[in-house]
Amino acid sequence: MTVKALRGTIQIPGDKSISHRSVMFGSIAEGTTTINGFLPGDDCLSTISCFQKLGVDIQMIDEQSVVVKGKGIQALKEPSDILDVGNSGTTIRLMIGILANTPFHSTLIGDESIAKRPMKRVTGPLRDMNIHLDGRKDANFTPLVIRGGKAKGIHYTSPVASAQVKSAILLAGLQAEGTTSVTEPAKSRDHTERMLEAFGVKVEEEGLTVSIEGGQTLRGTHVEVPGDISSAAFFLVAGAIIANSRIEIQKVGMNPTRTGILDVLSNMGASIETVKETKETAEPYADLVVEASHLKGTEVGGDLIPRLIDEIPIIALAATQAEGITVIKDAAELKVKETNRIDTVVNELTKMGANIEATEDGMIIHGGAKLHGANVNSHGDHRIGMMLAVASCIAEGETIIENRDAVSVSYPQFFAHLESLQQ
Ligand code: S3P
Repeated sequence: MTVKALRGTIQIPGDKSISHRSVMFGSIAEGTTTINGFLPGDDCLSTISCFQKLGVDIQMIDEQSVVVKGKGIQALKEPSDILDVGNSGTTIRLMIGILANTPFHSTLIGDESIAKRPMKRVTGPLRDMNIHLDGRKDANFTPLVIRGGKAKGIHYTSPVASAQVKSAILLAGLQAEGTTSVTEPAKSRDHTERMLEAFGVKVEEEGLTVSIEGGQTLRGTHVEVPGDISSAAFFLVAGAIIANSRIEIQKVGMNPTRTGILDVLSNMGASIETVKETKETAEPYADLVVEASHLKGTEVGGDLIPRLIDEIPIIALAATQAEGITVIKDAAELKVKETNRIDTVVNELTKMGANIEATEDGMIIHGGAKLHGANVNSHGDHRIGMMLAVASCIAEGETIIENRDAVSVSYPQFFAHLESLQQ
């Protein structure tokens, strides 16, 4: 269906990465944590349910307000049931780090997608910290079993720029003996570092290395969760590629480790204005206004990749509508997301008439494609579902998206917001 224009104002839901961490850190802190702007998406609800099974009192006051009554990490109780993380990679990887220092046994599982995602990147370094972990294929895949203990600090040089890996090791380091540090090949999102500081923990950063001293206590606090720029990205691109559009998106998180999408869209010639920026909070945010623009092709690679890794599916769609060629490289991490996002993006957009090819570490997109409706599939990947929904707005004819409900993982009101903007 070709949409005439998208016009109006939306407030996108809370940041997924920050929402997870607010519940996790609140659960291991001493004292009460209040969270405002929480994302009630399936992934973050999985985090709440896991910590409730560990005996933490967590209450949802309304859709976006949560109160966590933490009693310190020592108060976590051995779960009598399996901890099910659903579709959430952040939940499982960060929980492994937290459970490393609990004196009990826990079993972690997730859905079909989680069962295919590599965990050795976290369980490997944690074994080096003396933690007993097991799982399929030498602790690379779920179900994973952790018999917690006392970690010893390590210095870990990570082969990938991954905030999940960095955070898991730092969280294990919180209760470890001595200092724990992680060096990354490029800077990944730093929500863990910022939020730990807000909970009263001292974190040191030097270049690409982050260090933490063991034996520190978290103190409950208030967490203000800004909107998720990864969710805003779908409307930033929709507004840019759908003629006559103008969308105002309120309270979007502007953490510089996450704003790569703004750099890329600006390189492509998109008109995006930043208004009312707030920098006083632990996580800065701003209102963004996007207008329909003439886009041109670009190159995306290097240190920019971790700053926009989750936005690559929607950047690929933008590139199909740009003038010229777009090359995305250094993004092999896409293969181990909720789906293999190089394959799913290329296969699904090809069905709609895009001229796009997969490479070993990214994709090459020839712009100026006229998309047509097709029978496409999210393959249970929320970001693929939302990207295809935006694609359907510019496609000639009918598009059917199978498994479109996957969007509730990070953006339950996505289709309602999309409809509310349609002219
Ligand atoms: C996340 C980190 C990223 C990102 C994911 C959320 C986080 O994964 O893709 O959606 O909250 O730390 P990696 O750390 O594996 O790159």
